[in-house]
Amino acid sequence: MDLRAADLAHSFHPQTNLALHASVGPLTIARGEGVWLETDDGRRLLDGMAGLWCVGLGYSERRLVAAATRQLETLPYQQSFGHRAHEPGIRLAADLAAIAPAGLTRAFFATSGSEAVDSAVKLAWYFWNARSEPGRKRILARRRAYHGVTVAAGSLTGLPGIHGGFDLPRPFAIHLTAPHAAQQARPGESEAAFTARLADELEAVIAAEGAETIAAMIAEPLIGAGGVILPPAGYFAAIQPILRRHGILLIADEVITGFGRTGRMWGCETFDMVPDMLVCAKQLTSGYQPLSALMVSEAIYATVAEESGRRGSFGHGFTYGGHPVACAVARETLALYRERDIVGAAAAKAPRFQRRLAALNQVPGVREARGIGLIGGVEMADAADAARVQAAALWEGLIVRAVVDTVAICPPLVIGDAEIDLLFDRLEAALRSV
Ligand SMILES: Cc1ncc(COP(=O)(O)O)c(C=O)c1O
Repeated sequence: MDLRAADLAHSFHPQTNLALHASVGPLTIARGEGVWLETDDGRRLLDGMAGLWCVGLGYSERRLVAAATRQLETLPYQQSFGHRAHEPGIRLAADLAAIAPAGLTRAFFATSGSEAVDSAVKLAWYFWNARSEPGRKRILARRRAYHGVTVAAGSLTGLPGIHGGFDLPRPFAIHLTAPHAAQQARPGESEAAFTARLADELEAVIAAEGAETIAAMIAEPLIGAGGVILPPAGYFAAIQPILRRHGILLIADEVITGFGRTGRMWGCETFDMVPDMLVCAKQLTSGYQPLSALMVSEAIYATVAEESGRRGSFGHGFTYGGHPVACAVARETLALYRERDIVGAAAAKAPRFQRRLAALNQVPGVREARGIGLIGGVEMADAADAARVQAAALWEGLIVRAVVDTVAICPPLVIGDAEIDLLFDRLEAALRSV
């Protein structure tokens, strides 16, 4: 079969310029090993994006293959509706509760980040209905945030490229200023003053809308797909007391930051975030299986459980949520993170990664190179350059990703020192060629 011709004839690619695709055609990946990918015509590419921010353990982890195979042979499918359960799901929920930020004791499983975010939104509505505050419907988010693409998650995403043509955002979403000092701080404004201004804006929006209309706020510890944007110092410490004072729940979207990306197990630890709910996915299975989890506190669970008793059921859930094969792979992924101290090793490699990243600030055309742990972004002075750098990097044998005006870098956590150097050598060559 001519794969290219078949792709052009029958595939419908997500997040793609479909008009352009007819002339560009697919970049077809045939196999992977460690941090390396190989195309169907034999080109080797260094995957500086860990797939889509997810393949933390690299592409050839046999233990994950074995875990999936064992589970497929034992029990390839089981569901969790109506009291049904299976061992990998039960054990994974307990494993997650053991490592989750304090107080998050319950895990609800879905398959994608978007589904888990939608679940968090629905749960917030269900919670407030149960607490006899049915007016709390609106959800606070930030511009430049990425929370996914389903109707609720896509509404909370703060990117015009995700909204346009889809009648999004829906009116329940309220977008605050992006916590992006390089673009949003005023000339001469200190980081502390910028943080204070963002907190003042939050207070003002709550006053204008009425706290009794706001259910929750959702935030990524650091904004990933919206441009790898780190919050200004003290950001969560400044906004959390305001949310708490007004009874507004805080949802941490750790879909990218969870499981070591920032050099700690959770982005919440790195940025002093204390959430009432947490969404994770991606590195939960190192991308080997589709799985996401919504973690909630015992207090939220208790309210929801009581309400479900009144209604006869908690009327939400997915056929493949907590799929046993995905749960088995997630458990093995967490075991490998533990056994090999993947998070500690990521933290140890971070200084080299960040030193090479910071050096890119000297390259013409770069507005700001920034990052933490093993994630980075190179914001271009001319936003259109980000896509040009992505294309130039591919010629250099490197996969990076243009997100808005920024080139994102997020390699497998298992990347070695020599591979970090090679990644940045190739990225710098691409930047200079543009
Ligand atoms: C922070 C964040 N939340 C949610 C999502 C949505 O996840 P999915 O693409 O699995 O629906 C993503 C995807 O990149 C993400 O980065």
